[in-house]
Amino acid sequence: MPPATQSAAAPSHVGIIMDGNGRWAQARGLSRSEGHRAGAGPVRTILKAAHREGVRHLTLYAFSTENWARSDEEVGNLFALLAEYLDSETAELLASGVRLSAMGALDRLPSFARQALSEAMKATAGNDDLTLTLALSYGSRAELAAATRALAEKVKSGALAPEEIDEARLAGQLWSADLPDLDLLIRTGGERRVSNFMLWQLAYAELLFTDTLWPDFGEADFLAALADFQGRRRRFGRAE
Ligand code: IPE
Ligand code: IPE
Ligand code: MG
Repeated sequence: MPPATQSAAAPSHVGIIMDGNGRWAQARGLSRSEGHRAGAGPVRTILKAAHREGVRHLTLYAFSTENWARSDEEVGNLFALLAEYLDSETAELLASGVRLSAMGALDRLPSFARQALSEAMKATAGNDDLTLTLALSYGSRAELAAATRALAEKVKSGALAPEEIDEARLAGQLWSADLPDLDLLIRTGGERRVSNFMLWQLAYAELLFTDTLWPDFGEADFLAALADFQGRRRRFGRAE
């Protein structure tokens, strides 16, 4: 048993910045898109492991607002891969109790990808073992700006007074409104930055950076990350 000050429980909400697909491919003389394809394997593995370990929410950063600046070819391939993944995995998600969700500026997605997403979300809506949220066309600053706009509209219409705006009210307008704060944020691929991912929600998250490129990130790496989390002392600003 870990000491009482350490958390023995699995993190309830794990976020992953799945980075390093391009470098993984480049090292093998493959195209970036082949790197993204290789990245689907770890998604399956980590989802299974997370489920088994009692993680309730797994949020995967799959495509950022800023990733729209990549080539049309890479972007097109990424969304084709997404549709392919949803097509082949939805039955398994459904059977295993996983609810699929998505957050981001989803209206910017190609319609075939939006369609595949909404079908998978509808099919798994009744599940509640684990929520798998794909952050797609997601940027935390865009999310905060949209939430601020929504609150401003309510104030303008008289439905809300400015002094009623508090942290809970703002969090309730975020794309992540149905999710708890992040407990553990993992970034693969060697960079030590958060690249506009869930800036609000990671206020007290434990951060874990690994040099392992996403396509190489396996179950043992994930279990090691959970163990690392469980060994940390979270204080949330309190004196101990
Ligand atoms: C992460 O891998 C996946 C996406 C951003 C879509 P990258 O494509 O950023 O891979 P690197 O960082 O270039 O290796
Ligand atoms: C972050 O990776 C976005 C995703 C993993 C989807 P990037 O590769 O886009 O981040 P930067 O450009 O290195 O900060
Ligand atoms: Mg990258």
